[in-house]
Amino acid sequence: MQLPIVLCQTARQPLQRQLFDQIRELVLSGRLKPGTPLPASRALADQLGVSRNTVLLTYEQLLAEGYLQTRQAVGTYVSLELPEGCLAARRAPDEPAAEAGVHTCPHPLPFKGRSQALVNPHPLAYDFWLGRPDPHSFPIKAWHRLTNRALASAGTRFTEYREPAGLFELRKAIVDHLGPARGISASPDQVVIVAGSQGGLNLIARLLVREDCRVATENPCYQGAAFLFESHRAELLPVPVDEDGIVVDLLPRSGVQLLYVTPSHQYPMGFMMSLERRLRLLDWARRSGAYIIEDDYDSDFRYRGSPLTALQGLDRHDSVIYLGTFSKSMGAALRLGYLVLPRQLVEPARTAKALIDNGHPWLDQAVMAEYIGSGAYDTHLRRIRQIYRERRDCLLERLQHHFGEVVITGQDAGMHVAWHLPRSFPQARALQDLVAAKGVGIYSLQSGAAYDFGGCAYSERTVVLGFSSLDERHIRAGIDRLAEVIARNRSAPAHATAADSVHPPLTTNLTL
Ligand SMILES: Cc1ncc(COP(=O)(O)O)c(C=O)c1O
Repeated sequence: MQLPIVLCQTARQPLQRQLFDQIRELVLSGRLKPGTPLPASRALADQLGVSRNTVLLTYEQLLAEGYLQTRQAVGTYVSLELPEGCLAARRAPDEPAAEAGVHTCPHPLPFKGRSQALVNPHPLAYDFWLGRPDPHSFPIKAWHRLTNRALASAGTRFTEYREPAGLFELRKAIVDHLGPARGISASPDQVVIVAGSQGGLNLIARLLVREDCRVATENPCYQGAAFLFESHRAELLPVPVDEDGIVVDLLPRSGVQLLYVTPSHQYPMGFMMSLERRLRLLDWARRSGAYIIEDDYDSDFRYRGSPLTALQGLDRHDSVIYLGTFSKSMGAALRLGYLVLPRQLVEPARTAKALIDNGHPWLDQAVMAEYIGSGAYDTHLRRIRQIYRERRDCLLERLQHHFGEVVITGQDAGMHVAWHLPRSFPQARALQDLVAAKGVGIYSLQSGAAYDFGGCAYSERTVVLGFSSLDERHIRAGIDRLAEVIARNRSAPAHATAADSVHPPLTTNLTL
């Protein structure tokens, strides 16, 4: 029998490793069934044009790992008792990936990455998953009307390539909106339309990140950003956050190319960066020569006080790349976001965008431009902001009702809060598992799409709860159920005090 194996003499992977991987793949994919005899080592070596030793050593390793067995007089054959790990990894025989895996030359993929948690994979009755708009909030009627109108006047717009940076009308509508809303002063040429924040981060990485360059992030921070920079083989430099935002004094004075921050509502802790910290951060960027990415993902929702001017609006040295998204205010599946770039990055970004995808699809841009330009977007924001405020109030009231003095951060803005658990409660991850078994989703930092680099002061005793996608009835019922679970699993009397609370101590008055 000849095995369908192709070895690549010029690949970086040694021949023995290639052979091992391919035989293992044949076993796992079911193409070599348990009990099937393998060719004699000399025959396989002849077939593949390799030394017999290479085959013998490969067989030895496959025997050691349990994929093969051997018996005198029978020879070497596929193991009749595949080890547990094999069975878990086994794919359906008709799955295309298994086929592809067997035939492709096993060059190592240049891409290595992990994907951020975007949805809770296990549906729960009361799921406080983060950052989801109300499922009924999308302005479907207006969208329908504006889409029809755009289609009626589309002309050649579907058939021509267009400006890669995006539709001018949308870029103008965005800067007109950001001026009063975020204190940003920019011209439409500085805006590039991208596929959500993630598209913006990719474009920035394409421009500024190369292997081993140093990218600083908040610790903890948003997984989508950290994983992306990691996939570009940047060296990540986690910098702690406190109640005023990233601790600027802990940033290196030089050698950092890029810093990623969420100043309006630190993800996931919810801290708002103070003005003093903002100014010091900009000063650091000027001195060190680093660019700052300001991810302003949920700044449309501010419930107390005025929003602070965005870093971009305070920047006098063209150091800030502002990143905005419609994922929170409209819906994540729109995949619409934008960058506001320092002038020197505009042309490179336009070119990179053309190389990546030649620009964002026209229709959604046209509809969004009209939606903002007509004033409907502002009305929509006011409406959902009010709904989210009521939901937030309901969540906080219910937590306070059950647990007394709760310590919360991030409640003045956004779509989620961070709850710092008293010491008498189970730790965050354990609590998450306990309540999930009762149909309630609350999340430890790591599970809630945050990247916790470890050593973070908040890791063990902070849970995050999104409130924007649950109506008040569900919020109440979910927290009531959570309270029942905690009552059965806590180690101290019913009402905790702030003193029984958190590490590190939070200095501002965060009790409700
Ligand atoms: C910090 C942060 N930035 C950005 C986003 C939005 O990403 P996108 O615009 O790619 O949907 C999220 C979503 O959860 C987020 O938490």
